[in-house]
Amino acid sequence: MKNSPCVVRRAKVDDAPALRAIRLEALKDTPEAYGSTYEESLRWTSRQWRKVAKTRNYFLGECQGVVRGMASGGYNEDRPGTWWLYSMYVSPNERGTGLAQQLVDEVVAWARGEGATELHLHVGSRSARARSFYTKLGFVERGDVIEMDRDPSIGLHTMVKTLV
Ligand SMILES: CC(C)(COP(=O)(O)OP(=O)(O)OC[C@H]1O[C@@H](n2cnc3c(N)ncnc32)[C@H](O)[C@@H]1OP(=O)(O)O)[C@@H](O)C(=O)NCCC(=O)NCCS
Repeated sequence: MKNSPCVVRRAKVDDAPALRAIRLEALKDTPEAYGSTYEESLRWTSRQWRKVAKTRNYFLGECQGVVRGMASGGYNEDRPGTWWLYSMYVSPNERGTGLAQQLVDEVVAWARGEGATELHLHVGSRSARARSFYTKLGFVERGDVIEMDRDPSIGLHTMVKTLV
């Protein structure tokens, strides 16, 4: 594994254009990994992006001044009292560098700060590399699978990492 020259930081409202760019890149690169679509996200206004950048717990991986990765920490209204890792993405050139782990570390720190003892995620049935990555980081499959709303042919597997 290369040593990542990238830094991870919490997104701020002024990161809205960079957040838009990396989300659109992710939706184009790996549409099967996300619940929303490129076309839907293209229609978002700059005001909507600014709201997301301000209110969601996004972390951005910046490499030589360009955002090349993202992850966020959030809640799941169907599973009250649980903390979730969402929006995981690293640009193809930065895969295998450790940037993805740096992003997860920040979400883990966020969840711990919230008092979480576990961090949950959903990974799609077609995302073999992501599943290997999460397993390497200590996430374990819980065995439950739900259909993705947007595409029921994709199963979403719950994985959980114990934080204590
Ligand atoms: C998921 C993602 C963030 C992981 O980051 P990454 O830098 O690729 O992860 P790593 O390289 O550290 O780890 C991936 C592991 O999968 C393995 N792997 C590579 N290709 C694989 C494949 N086709 N099938 C299964 N495992 C694979 C790698 O060997 C590596 O394990 P190792 O370090 O033990 O060798 C990144 O691949 C990505 O952005 N993918 C597209 C978006 C996506 O799928 N997001 C997940 C949404 S839930």
